[in-house]
Amino acid sequence: LAKSILHKETITSTQTVAHELAQDGAEEGTIVIADEQTKGRGRMRREWHSTKGKGIWMSIILRPKILPQDAPQITLMTAVALAKAIESFLQPEQKDSLAIKWPNDLLISGKKIAGILTEMQAEQDLIQYIIVGIGMNVNHRAEDIQEEIKNKATSLAIATGENWPIKNLIQKVLVEFEKTYEEYVHNGFSDIKAEWESYGFKIGENIKIRTFHDCWEAPFLGIAEDGALLTKDKDGNKTKLYSGEIDWFTV
Ligand code: BTN
Repeated sequence: LAKSILHKETITSTQTVAHELAQDGAEEGTIVIADEQTKGRGRMRREWHSTKGKGIWMSIILRPKILPQDAPQITLMTAVALAKAIESFLQPEQKDSLAIKWPNDLLISGKKIAGILTEMQAEQDLIQYIIVGIGMNVNHRAEDIQEEIKNKATSLAIATGENWPIKNLIQKVLVEFEKTYEEYVHNGFSDIKAEWESYGFKIGENIKIRTFHDCWEAPFLGIAEDGALLTKDKDGNKTKLYSGEIDWFTV
């Protein structure tokens, strides 16, 4: 992996540029990194704040030979890789505070430190490419975090009390990403699923689930082989939910 790295000081969104490169035939492992994004985006069409030099803003082009319906596994695989990278920057006594909130949020003490945006281009049953976008807050101080997300977001510097060299962190993230991706390609998802669940936030507890037109409380039972969230519907029947269709909260 990391065959070719495109680094820009300022970019609209590494995600958008990675799409353009992939459409022009860029090979698997092509990476786009920026110091700053002017139009960073998150899931659910949310805006993603990406201040200059404060974090890791990057997108990775993948061309896995999997079915489109298994693409959510790529998000979960990436979350495991990111968890391992972040864990290596924490003190031993802090490691328990790290968790993955399904499907794609990395939390420290319940606050978001990183997010993943996976976007796919597919035709019928063939994936042309997948872009994995990784955003991680690194050197933000408490006052750098926007007021409206203050009690929901954190950074590595806030969590550890020190500043971090972004370049070294990117290297560590890429090493963990490559290891986890290779494991996924060669051995499939089941070992990674178990690792994911070992970091899983609120598994076994009750959560509040929101779809476009509904909201209810149900137990978080774990994740399915295809990466879906396992829970119960409003009538108490077991069900699988996919990340495009829901949001969930702690109760
Ligand atoms: C989320 O949690 O909603 C996902 C956030 C993903 C942000 C990253 S930063 C690099 C890449 N470029 C973007 O515009 N978004 C992703």
